[in-house]
Amino acid sequence: MTKRVAILISGSGSNMVSLVKSMTGDHPARAALVLSNNPDAAGLAKAQALGIPTKVIDHRPFGKDRAGFEGALLTAVTDAQPDIICLAGFMRILTPDFIAAWEGKMLNIHPSLLPKYKGLNTHARTIAAGDREHGCSVHEVTAELDGGPVLGQTIIDVAADDTAESLAARLLPLEHDLYAKVLRRFAAGDRSKIITRA
Ligand code: GRF
Repeated sequence: MTKRVAILISGSGSNMVSLVKSMTGDHPARAALVLSNNPDAAGLAKAQALGIPTKVIDHRPFGKDRAGFEGALLTAVTDAQPDIICLAGFMRILTPDFIAAWEGKMLNIHPSLLPKYKGLNTHARTIAAGDREHGCSVHEVTAELDGGPVLGQTIIDVAADDTAESLAARLLPLEHDLYAKVLRRFAAGDRSKIITRA
């Protein structure tokens, strides 16, 4: 049976677009919902243009009431009856309760070679450390931030003149490819790792 995928975004949504476009033909999944916590996310219009239902759950009116925000988020996501949730540039940290409800069914794309550089500013941290390699990872989401099982990684070389910006620009299209490949396998029940060097 075709799997239903909910994609959570906060910004430009380029990974979301790649995922949505990949889910055609004999792909085992289809996009059922694109949800943003940010009403101004550029990705919302892109999802609508692709014919995918969208929802906004703005976190700001909830203030410090994280449980309230997540309750609304959980309701919105559950209404779409997804089998899989893909976080794609979703910039809210989820609580263990939310994650527990979806553990084993939720993926994230992270712009580093995990377990290196969990959290933010991964490109700048790579440059600051003098690393010769960088990359992106798709992983299952568990209660540990950016710490769940890695299902795919793409590795790139860091050149002497690279900057955080040049690394981000080079990695983004590789993120798109990797996430689409991992989702396709994951939706088919295959959790074997995809490691590639670009
Ligand atoms: C990507 O680099 C992703 O790895 C990071 O945030 C960025 C989102 O970009 N978590 P987009 O919204 O998919 O264009």
